[in-house]
Amino acid sequence: MNKELRQAIIAGNWKMNKTRSEAKTLIEDLKPIAEKATCGVVICVPYTNLETAVELTKGTNIKVGAENVHFKKSGAFTGEISADMLTEMGVEYVIIGHSERRQYFGETDLTVNRRVKAALAAGLKVILCVGEMLSEREDGITEDVVELQTVAAFTGVSEEDAKNVIIAYEPVWAIGTGKTATAEQANEVCSFIRGVVAKRYNKAVADGMTIQYGGSMNPKNAAELLAQPDVDGGLIGGASLKAADFGVLLEEASK
Ligand code: PGA
Repeated sequence: MNKELRQAIIAGNWKMNKTRSEAKTLIEDLKPIAEKATCGVVICVPYTNLETAVELTKGTNIKVGAENVHFKKSGAFTGEISADMLTEMGVEYVIIGHSERRQYFGETDLTVNRRVKAALAAGLKVILCVGEMLSEREDGITEDVVELQTVAAFTGVSEEDAKNVIIAYEPVWAIGTGKTATAEQANEVCSFIRGVVAKRYNKAVADGMTIQYGGSMNPKNAAELLAQPDVDGGLIGGASLKAADFGVLLEEASK
């Protein structure tokens, strides 16, 4: 409900794909397609493509995001990137807490929370990922899992700052597997998360928050998912790597 109170955003998550030259081609292909979109358009790209993406999207409706950020301002953290490094470059968004980072890189609710706070303090908009694993869904604890992840991520985050957070509900079992949550399942959990945000802050913050679905969203299933009352766009992996596919999702989210 209250879909008009918030913006639908389609965000691409390129993950570890595209060299710089490939990125240039994809962005150039995307520009004329994205132009027609009335939904928000974001591409989250590998660090090595950020500068290229910021340059090529200047003056367009495409916003650029990173796929992670460290929580310290600077220091001896080999291989890490700070929020200030991103904002100075013109990056506006950052994905935090993606399940691949939680699964493969030791990300925890605590580090997610620290990253969220550092990103917001630097003026970045956060795409916070939450979602259950298959075993957790089967155990009937999906709501417990996403509630814990959401509440933990917002610990110490002011109401004002919370307005710069987008949540992406991504059931882990649906990511890159071709298995999509049904539109009803996606809506049910997005709606539940909105309730968690309302409890943590208030109804106005919850109603205004963009809550995306992510996990094998593609041109075939997008219309049904995006039509759901509590699904405000999507975080898109595989289908963000082809301009035409991404274009279909932008079109559907713009309806
Ligand atoms: P997918 O990835 O669309 O390839 O399933 C989504 C994501 O991981 O954000």
